[in-house]
Amino acid sequence: MSDAVTSDPIRPADGADDVEAVILVGGKGTRLRPLTLSAAKPMLPTAGAPFLEHLLSRVRAAGIRRVVLGTSYRAETFSGYFGDGSRFGLEIDYVIEDSPLGTGGAIRNVLDRVSAPTVMIFNGDILSGVDLTGMIDFHRRQQADVTLHLTKVDDPSAFGSVPTDPDGRVQAFLEKTENPPTDQINAGCYLFQRTVIESIPAGRVVSVERETFPGLLAGDARVYGYVDSSYWLDLGTPAAFVQGSADLVRGIAPTSALPAPAGDVLTLPGAVVAPTATLTGGTALGRDVSVGDDAAVAGSVVFDGAVIEAGATVTRSVIGARARIGAGAVVADAVIGDDAVVGPRCELLGGIRVWPGVELPEAGVRFSSDAS
Ligand code: GDD
Ligand code: MG
Repeated sequence: MSDAVTSDPIRPADGADDVEAVILVGGKGTRLRPLTLSAAKPMLPTAGAPFLEHLLSRVRAAGIRRVVLGTSYRAETFSGYFGDGSRFGLEIDYVIEDSPLGTGGAIRNVLDRVSAPTVMIFNGDILSGVDLTGMIDFHRRQQADVTLHLTKVDDPSAFGSVPTDPDGRVQAFLEKTENPPTDQINAGCYLFQRTVIESIPAGRVVSVERETFPGLLAGDARVYGYVDSSYWLDLGTPAAFVQGSADLVRGIAPTSALPAPAGDVLTLPGAVVAPTATLTGGTALGRDVSVGDDAAVAGSVVFDGAVIEAGATVTRSVIGARARIGAGAVVADAVIGDDAVVGPRCELLGGIRVWPGVELPEAGVRFSSDAS
């Protein structure tokens, strides 16, 4: 690390090789159940690769080399796949919380594993096209203690609302409030000076959103917002999950971790698709998936080994590993757990979730969570 870079506020960043990354991946992914019963949310396949692999490809492309994963729930699934990170051009280290420490507690908990003066912290479920090196450059120019990536959304009440002044200085941080003052929200990516991480209390649950950010603002710390309008999506809900995967497949969302070139559909080796079947809308098929005659799969994610029988239609849905969708069944906006069986001509619509291993054998049964 060259001191000259941080001590001269107008010198542009010359890369991120002196910045380390921390990725928060300890959440339970409750809104994505039942898929997250067996795997952590960032390990779910999207566009043919675990979601985290796409995020890591962006971190690597920004020039960051060392990444610490703050894990808790299903911690073993991360190290089993990513190992020491060398396969991905990274050095990956793992820290496991015995019980979840919250977002701020998780950041404090990795302090002794990071040595860079500036640390880039990511929520592990965000798909984003933000210019990471531009954000690092901005942080240095502002001589900020903390910089937050901010984006605008239609419904800010589900996020942290973050008003800024004309210079980009953060005025308040309001996590999930009913009447947010601005549609500009916390996009889940931060730059922290290491000294700020040191100031977070150790050994207890801390919310970075509800405790650390308000506390820094009350103490007049230099907290800045890097506002940007590039692609942005939180993959926390089933609808967002299928959207994010389809956008990665079609090249709408940025990644350099696609296992095949971007197109309208992504198919992993071993998948067998009948010539009369149609695959559209950014659908991703995992390994050894089978799709029968005249089946139609649109905008969906189909995990390894799943079977979609003849004439079935699957739209904007997630089909778990080895699940079977019977002939003529209609599945839309649904989540089907691993090894579940949806009987022939069943209709599953509008947010229905089928738990792993459940069998719905009756032909012609219609399940819908709404009036559709
Ligand atoms: N290690 C660890 N320990 N990680 C955690 C813990 C924990 O106790 N709790 C949550 N995380 C991780 C999750 O795995 C996820 O990657 C990230 O922290 C954020 O948690 P979510 O549960 O996805 O939060 P959210 O989406 O409701 O809200 C957050 O993200 C929004 C942007 O999508 C907040 O940061 C909001 O302010 C923000 O607007
Ligand atoms: Mg989230």
